[in-house]
Amino acid sequence: MNNFKSYERKLRASYSELDAKTEDGWAILEYKGKKINGYTDKDYIYHFFTKHIVDLQKKDLDIVDLGGGDGVLLDIIGKQLDAKGIKATLLNIDNNSNSLLLCNKKFPHIKTKLQNVLSITNRNQADVVISRFSFQYFSKANQIKLMRVIHNTLKSGGLLIAEWPYGNDEKIFHEVMTNIKSIISGEEVSDLKKSIYNFLPNHFKDLLKKSGYVGIKKELGGVFMHSTKSWKDRFNINENQSREIDLLYLKYFLKTKKLFFRQKNIIYLKSHVCFARAFKK
Ligand SMILES: C[S@@+](CC[C@H](N)C(=O)[O-])C[C@H]1O[C@@H](n2cnc3c(N)ncnc32)[C@H](O)[C@@H]1O
Repeated sequence: MNNFKSYERKLRASYSELDAKTEDGWAILEYKGKKINGYTDKDYIYHFFTKHIVDLQKKDLDIVDLGGGDGVLLDIIGKQLDAKGIKATLLNIDNNSNSLLLCNKKFPHIKTKLQNVLSITNRNQADVVISRFSFQYFSKANQIKLMRVIHNTLKSGGLLIAEWPYGNDEKIFHEVMTNIKSIISGEEVSDLKKSIYNFLPNHFKDLLKKSGYVGIKKELGGVFMHSTKSWKDRFNINENQSREIDLLYLKYFLKTKKLFFRQKNIIYLKSHVCFARAFKK
């Protein structure tokens, strides 16, 4: 029996196509008191990505997106740079062939490469490397490897911009996520299962420092707010599983308020979003 919901199918190919209009949509980001689509909002993308690329004051640029998914971020950045008279060559490296097929179809101007980013051997190729919501798929050891890969890929003076989600209390957040993953059994959690390490901003800053980057800056973005309903919407779960998730939220909410937000009797698990920028010397 095919037990995928269409929502999860969509998610596998492209996060950017999730509906952020509904109250509980998976892609909704709370930012400065507003609800925006965390994957496609153009002002948000300009503020955290494009503006800093414009500041490099180059007329021609090579930009590489690591784990670029369907390419929506590269496409938006490319168009915003174009509007400023900056020409950018866009390359999306991802190890998910479905996402790259979608990228080829939706954005034929973006070059794609099917590859595990850890095995990239390119050197001094990119003016800018971006990576959004991919770092949480790597263990601590692999993050160090990935930092080296990015450092090698960048030209001297090149810019790295990374965005990733994390919970305020790394250990408990990890516990909550692990519990949720075990309640929602089945193949449809495979993408979520790969998300293994949501780390705090200072960890990433240290990683950048140790890897030889300079001019390191971090900045907080919005917050993803996941109620128990969003898990139920996204996955096929039965009444018992649904109750288990409600109880899990309640248990952890009582244990630590740090990770949650409560409004009109609904408890939301907060995934903060952080940005880091750094340069290769
Ligand atoms: C949550 S999605 C984000 C997609 C895209 N960056 C965006 O923000 O729209 C994470 C992406 O990272 C990719 N990814 C995860 N691990 C990877 C690896 N080792 N090598 C290449 N891509 C990877 C996945 O295939 C997926 O497309």
